[in-house]
Amino acid sequence: MTKKKTKALCVPLSKAEPVRRYLKEQHLLREDVRIVKEATCIYFPIASKQKEILNYPVITKSFEVGTLKTHCYKDLLKLPKGLQEELPTSYDIIGSVILIKLPKGLLRYRKQIGHALIDTHKNIRTVCLIDPVSGELRTRNITIIAGENQTLTTHTEYGLIFHVDVATTYFSPRLASERKRIVAQVKSGEIVVDLFAGVAPFSIMIARFAKPKIVYAIDKNRKAIDLAMQNVKQNHVLDTVDVIHADANDVGKILLVKADRIIMNLPFSAFKFFSVALSIAAPICKVHYYDIIREEDIEGRVTALKKVAKKQGYTLTEVLIHKIKSYAPREFYIGLDITATKHADVA
Ligand SMILES: C[S@@+](CC[C@H](N)C(=O)[O-])C[C@H]1O[C@@H](n2cnc3c(N)ncnc32)[C@H](O)[C@@H]1O
Repeated sequence: MTKKKTKALCVPLSKAEPVRRYLKEQHLLREDVRIVKEATCIYFPIASKQKEILNYPVITKSFEVGTLKTHCYKDLLKLPKGLQEELPTSYDIIGSVILIKLPKGLLRYRKQIGHALIDTHKNIRTVCLIDPVSGELRTRNITIIAGENQTLTTHTEYGLIFHVDVATTYFSPRLASERKRIVAQVKSGEIVVDLFAGVAPFSIMIARFAKPKIVYAIDKNRKAIDLAMQNVKQNHVLDTVDVIHADANDVGKILLVKADRIIMNLPFSAFKFFSVALSIAAPICKVHYYDIIREEDIEGRVTALKKVAKKQGYTLTEVLIHKIKSYAPREFYIGLDITATKHADVA
């Protein structure tokens, strides 16, 4: 481990956050060595010739060489007993925005938490407190707790660029590998319908990394569609992705083609659209159906889907269950890879 001697400020832990912010704003905080945290105080490495800063004497100390940004935001906070342990270990990063949920007890410390997150993440400019996604358009109530008053951001995933407004559109970075998993299944020349496309991450990834004939990206949210359009242009897939502002209920009237693959990423409500989805399905169609459901209810949901399919003249010849992530205690975000095959007598 390489060490370096530098000027430093020793600050009681209870004062660490405001002092750190001051040092940062004044460009006094060194970023080439690591901050040292001890039981009662924190040592900030600084670049200054002053004898004292904010009434704290400037001393000389050895620091481990390394970047400042690798620190966990929790290290910068000193909350009352019992609350420090409640600080979330996970949160979503979408472009330059962090979305975090806080338990009730931490809400009064939200600003400090927000600043600590900004200070420990190089590219973060805004921190938002979030409620769970809700409503038909799957958006969330957000409150900016630190940083810039900006909810529009640019997220990069597998080299693709997605413009997202975290306040008015849905986007989950946690679905990145799920999108990649679907892309790997798309065969050359397929007609794909992304029925609840949002800002079009599934559609664009398929268009860029597979060879579909066309992808129809449909969404009811005007704001999502506007961003989807920008994203399609920015990722150079205008020829392959057709962005459509519409209600999925009307897809049968809008699309005159039959889909080889349909993506239904509308957890909680996708079931209501399964029948309409099959109305635009090719005789053999893959459906990627997403839901948030308790483990014990999965089998019942599959049975219900089979009944809907039967009424539409289809048999679900294969249903593969993927647990993508846990959502709430005992609830999972699941993806069903369904093969729907038209009955011989109605084919
Ligand atoms: C969970 S988000 C998924 C977005 C996108 N597939 C993704 O992975 O980021 C569901 C999307 O469905 C859209 N939506 C909800 N009801 C709809 C409907 N009836 N017709 C079309 N889109 C709808 C919402 O606006 C939202 O963008």
